[in-house]
Amino acid sequence: MKEINIGLCGLGTVGTGVVKILKNHKDEIKHKTGTEISIRKILVNDVHKKRDVVINQEWLTTDANELVNNPDIDVIVEVMGGIDDTNLLLEQALNNKKHIVTANKDLMAVHGQKLLKLAKRNNCDIFYDASVAGGIPILRSLSDGLASDKIQKIMGIVNGTTNYILTKMTDEQKAFEPVLKEAQSLGFAEADPTSDVEGLDAARKMTLLANLAFKMEISLDDVEVSGIRDISQEDISFARSLGYTIKLIGIASINGGKVEVSVEPTLLPNEHPLAQVKNEYNAVYVYGEAVGETMFYGPGAGSMPTATAVVSDLMEVVKNIRLGISGNSYISPQYRTQLKENADKYTKY
Ligand code: NAP
Ligand code: HSE
Repeated sequence: MKEINIGLCGLGTVGTGVVKILKNHKDEIKHKTGTEISIRKILVNDVHKKRDVVINQEWLTTDANELVNNPDIDVIVEVMGGIDDTNLLLEQALNNKKHIVTANKDLMAVHGQKLLKLAKRNNCDIFYDASVAGGIPILRSLSDGLASDKIQKIMGIVNGTTNYILTKMTDEQKAFEPVLKEAQSLGFAEADPTSDVEGLDAARKMTLLANLAFKMEISLDDVEVSGIRDISQEDISFARSLGYTIKLIGIASINGGKVEVSVEPTLLPNEHPLAQVKNEYNAVYVYGEAVGETMFYGPGAGSMPTATAVVSDLMEVVKNIRLGISGNSYISPQYRTQLKENADKYTKY
């Protein structure tokens, strides 16, 4: 089997982790996929910037065409962020039959359904587990491990930056702005942290979770959102004095075919498991009709945890290429429609 070549878009917090895992876990990855995975090109803004990882300087480029129009590249790994321009780049890549792995929830929450359809038409895989809850394999668990169940509700902490800020404001009585700066320097926050603190990042993630769990096309406009910008030290102290902790909680539920999705600061009793989730960690409860309550917990942001999810998705793409069964994602509404069409065909014969 020929080696699989990737074009990496972005060499920041997550991209650096991806390069490190591909290098440090090379043998493990080859053993599990049966194939060498090699980086061919890396798209960045500035090829002269000092990097935190050793790379071949010739890989770096500022020209996206060297990735998406490169016949040697099989998979585009997008970890640079951005919405509309990045969408165009990925559309071009898919039309050139390149598989996609992305960590970009902003993009997937807005253009995800169209990209999933385009990927299917081009027989390409598209996976995006890193876009929700960092290192926790939550999308894969919903589509694989819990596939046989009917999901009724998802609830949890899905933004690491705000959880880091609330933890430090609660446990160390620190002020909002300096803790936000800490979260930025640790690589947890978005390039523009407004989307973290105003709850939009969590809303995008809840949209992706709800779409997958309830097999519906829920849009961001359907989500009730409020963030943590206005939460003061006084609010936190007052909640503490009553035995409560403030957390930014996302909830998505389905009842009688009606889906409700919200993200808002919530008072939790101190002994509630979600009140114990600290710093950049995320935790997601999934309630299924048959399984009951399950909880997923782990690092929700940061270089290596997020890169773990990206590279695991990449390995899935490589295995599918090897097996000749590309054209997959986590089961999407469009894929389900196709399944239904196929099922209808079968009943006719
Ligand atoms: P980052 O540290 O800001 O890195 C972004 C990288 O992309 C940089 O290398 C930058 O190049 C490059 N880049 C950005 N825009 C570009 C453009 N228009 N053309 C060429 N190169 C461009 O971001 P990050 O934290 O790694 O996040 C990347 C993506 O992963 C985002 O979608 C984010 O939402 C998602 N994500 C992040 C985390 C996390 O914990 N950080 C977790 C889950 C998902 P230069 O280096 O030259 O500036
Ligand atoms: N800014 C995001 C967060 C990164 O803090 O959760 C992980 O998606």
